[in-house]
Amino acid sequence: MLEFGCGYGTFTLPAARRVQGRVYALDIEPEMTCATAAKAREAGLANIETGVRDFLAHGSGRPDRSIDYAMLFNILHIEQPAALLNEAYRVLKPGGKLGVIHWRRNRPTPRGPSLEIRPTLEQCRDWAKAAGFEFVRSEELCCCSWHWGLVMRRP
Ligand SMILES: C[S@@+](CC[C@H](N)C(=O)[O-])C[C@H]1O[C@@H](n2cnc3c(N)ncnc32)[C@H](O)[C@@H]1O
Repeated sequence: MLEFGCGYGTFTLPAARRVQGRVYALDIEPEMTCATAAKAREAGLANIETGVRDFLAHGSGRPDRSIDYAMLFNILHIEQPAALLNEAYRVLKPGGKLGVIHWRRNRPTPRGPSLEIRPTLEQCRDWAKAAGFEFVRSEELCCCSWHWGLVMRRP
């Protein structure tokens, strides 16, 4: 798996517990990757590999068609969403899935970017389609009323 922008590892650890393979967790901020790596150590999760990397400037560094699942969680409000989606497409194997989560735009939330720059589920779905992905489903996140979820697939 590959997580673009792992932050403090909020999603990295639960994801790593669910898979047997390696989880690559990238972030441009060393503070974020250090926090994620420390949490992984504390939790005894040996399958998380963190990396400090600007994946917009330099790509993710993973080979073409090498990843089963890519996570774009709370990151598609960046200025170049298409570049990030193209990179996710490049690294995913055919049949590989892309998970997208983002803060809802229609309600204030305790954290998250300003409402104006939050993309909607429909925007992200259309951007992902433009990058070559197929729509799989939108995901009802019953655990959280502040976010929506989307699953896409590389054909
Ligand atoms: C809003 S946080 C979301 C973190 C995590 N995905 C979550 O949902 O808890 C976005 C993260 O992406 C990272 N990020 C933003 N642009 C990046 C880039 N070009 N390359 C690598 N990481 C980046 C930020 O440092 C930040 O940790």
